[in-house]
Parts: sequence; structure tokens; C-alpha cells
Amino acid sequence: MFKINPYRPGAGLMPPYLAGREEDIQTVERMFEALSMNIPTQSVIFSGLRGVGKTVLLNRLQKSAEETGIFCKHIEVEERKDFISQMAASAQGFLRKLSAKENLKHLIQKPLEAIKALVISFDPENSTFSLSMQERELYRTTNLTQSLTDVFTALGEAAYEARSPICFFIDEIQYMKKQELGALIAAIHRSNQLGYPVMIVGAGLPKIYKMLSEEKSYSERLFLYKEIGSLSYEQSQKAIEEPVRKLGTEYDEAAIKRIVEITKGYPFFIQQLCQIVYEEAEQKLITEDMVRNAASTFYQVLDNGFFKVRYERCSDADKRFIFAMVKCGELPCTISNVAKYLKKSVSAISTMRAQLINKGIVFSARHGELDFTVPEFDGFIRRHTDYEQWLNGNF
Ligand SMILES: Nc1ncnc2c1ncn2[C@@H]1O[C@H](COP(=O)(O)OP(=O)(O)OP(=O)(O)O)[C@@H](O)[C@H]1O
Ligand SMILES: [Mg+2]
Repeated sequence: MFKINPYRPGAGLMPPYLAGREEDIQTVERMFEALSMNIPTQSVIFSGLRGVGKTVLLNRLQKSAEETGIFCKHIEVEERKDFISQMAASAQGFLRKLSAKENLKHLIQKPLEAIKALVISFDPENSTFSLSMQERELYRTTNLTQSLTDVFTALGEAAYEARSPICFFIDEIQYMKKQELGALIAAIHRSNQLGYPVMIVGAGLPKIYKMLSEEKSYSERLFLYKEIGSLSYEQSQKAIEEPVRKLGTEYDEAAIKRIVEITKGYPFFIQQLCQIVYEEAEQKLITEDMVRNAASTFYQVLDNGFFKVRYERCSDADKRFIFAMVKCGELPCTISNVAKYLKKSVSAISTMRAQLINKGIVFSARHGELDFTVPEFDGFIRRHTDYEQWLNGNF
């Protein structure tokens, strides 16, 4: 029989009940209010592990911003896709909005020129603007920071004049190239200084905090940083119960306790486990036994999906590094312990470490220790046959 299953495990899928983010939403909504009054506002950055709910939070906030009348654009930075071309397309989107209103058309020319220069200089494959060779030369520049700052300030000025504030939602910031990130920070900084209503709400893996402060020391003041993590017991309980309340299903207390124990309050894991438990449930009261029975399917689904896609992006050398991290026992672990288990020197494994950080699998936690960006990844590795083989010297 077909049964509606309200749980939504999956990247960026809005859960039926967004638990535990009320305070963050409220804080940012207040900032949107200021922005909507044409007041320049601090930008916001959320960081957190894989599957904690950064994307859905960003999407939820975008909805609020749109309701406040702010012009919004969502950008998902991808490892291989060019950020500049995405930024330029978003900026053009804003100009299209202005062009729809007769009395605002005069505001377009200046930002359009800035966008042209940005695209022609830093996204040469892009054929949005057809220009003669000579014109191309006129627009060409080699300074990305200056060029992106020109775009932001010209857009900001137009936004201010049109009383149409702008917010860019940028997800997966950790994939931005160093130079692009530096240029973006400088651009938003300058448009803030000039009093223009342009704001960024960004999200990415924990390493972005370091990336941003390394790039520009003033970025610490420019952004409101918020680390988002797993849900508390009460918040998890809501994430578990609320979606099925309307469907007449309940969980008993022991079942909830067990779900929180298995998922450690990670939102993605809660959606995944509850989806399975609910699918298998043949009665209206979900008990601990039912949760326990669903657990093995839960691990199977994770091992073949969420964990596997990350694992398979690793080379054999990366994998050995990961195995050594797991062997350390406790996470975060020190690089010297990893080196010890790999029977190498710390300097010999530093490239490997950098590579795993770049791939977004590992990040350097407090005191330079290492941890996985994927929650419970160590448990997955322990279940994996490759790990066993490595322990036996066969990998
Ligand atoms: N606050 C929440 N309450 C309940 N479920 C949530 C919450 N936040 C996220 N989820 C669920 O968790 C899953 C992961 O969310 P999301 O894709 O936003 O995470 P993410 O942090 O962006 O992960 P990644 O780093 O892999 O992009 C989704 O299935 C979503 O429905
Ligand atoms: Mg995401």
C-alpha cells in the first residue's frame, strides 16, 4: 500500500520541520529588515559538517529575504565550475529586474559596464557579450579584486538608488579559489563602506573560517560567523515527531532516545533513519524495537550512499591516510599520530593532508588537529573491508 513518507533525507531537501534553527533565522531576519530599509548590513557565514543542514538553512533564509522584498540570488560554488561566471550571471539578473521598470533603466549602464569588464577579463570562454577586438582590449584588466569590487559597488549604488537591496546566497564557499574569495571579501567590504545595501549569506565546511581569515584579516569583523551543528535532544525530538504528527503517528520515548543515540542528532541521519523506520512501521506507535530493527538498513543505506560517495573520491593514498586517522582512536587526531601509523614523517604526509582538506573530506580542527567533515565517517571506515585489509597490511 502506498504510504506518504514525509521524511526527506537528501542534499538540500527541505525537511518537513526545520528543527533548532529558530534563533539563527530570527537573527538573520532582523538583518534582512535593516537591509530592506536600504541600510548596509553585515554579511553572515554559516559553517558546519556535511549534512547538518547548511543548505536548507540558506534556502529557508532566502525565502525570508524574498518576502522582505530583497533581491536574492543563490549561487552554489562547484569545484569545477567557474565562480566568476556565476557571479556575473547573478549580477545580470539584478539588472534585468531594474530594466523592467522604466524609471530605473538609467541605473543599468554603469553596473553593466563593470560586469562586462569582469567577464571579459576573468571568464574569457563566456560569450555573453559580443565585442570587437578593440572593445575587448578596452575592457580588459588583470586585477580580479578591483574588477569584482567595481561590480559590487556599481550594483550597490544601483540597488541603493532603486531602493532594491541585494542578497547573494553562496553555498559551498570552501570550493572558491583563494583569489576569488579574497576578491569577494574585498568587494563586499568596499560596498559596505560606501553604505550600499548588498549582503552575502554564505555557507561551507568548517575550514571556511580559516580560509576567510587567512585571506583578509578584517573579514572577522565583516562577517557574522555561526557554526551550526547537530541538534540537541529536544531539537532532535521535534525533527523526529513533528513530520508525522499530522499523519497520526507517534514515537514512544524509548524510540526517540534510540534514534537520537544512533543519529547523534545529525539532521541528515535523523531524516534517513526516520524514513526507514516509518516506512517499515505497521502501527501508529513507533517503539524502540522497531527503531532497532531499522538500524541495519539505515547503516546499509548510508554506507552505500552518503559515505560511499565521499570515500570513492579518495585515491588509495588518501584512503590510507584516512585509515590511519581512524586508527588513532579518538577524533580529532594529531598529524603526528597519523604519521606514526603510516610509518612516515609528518612532512612526508603533509601534501596528502592538504589534498584531503581540498577534497573537503578532512578539516583541521582546533589546535591543528584533524577531523572528518563527514559526521560518523570513522564508524563507516571501521565497517569497511578495506580498513580491515589495511590493518592486516594488505592495502
Ligand atoms: N534543522 C533541521 N531539522 C530537520 N532536518 C534537517 C534540518 N537541517 C537539515 N535537515 C535535513 O538534513 C539533510 C541535510 O541537509 P543539507 O543538505 O541542508 O545539509 P548541508 O549542511 O548543506 O550538507 P552538505 O555539507 O553535504 O551540503 C536534509 O535531508 C535535510 O532535510
Ligand atoms: Mg549543502
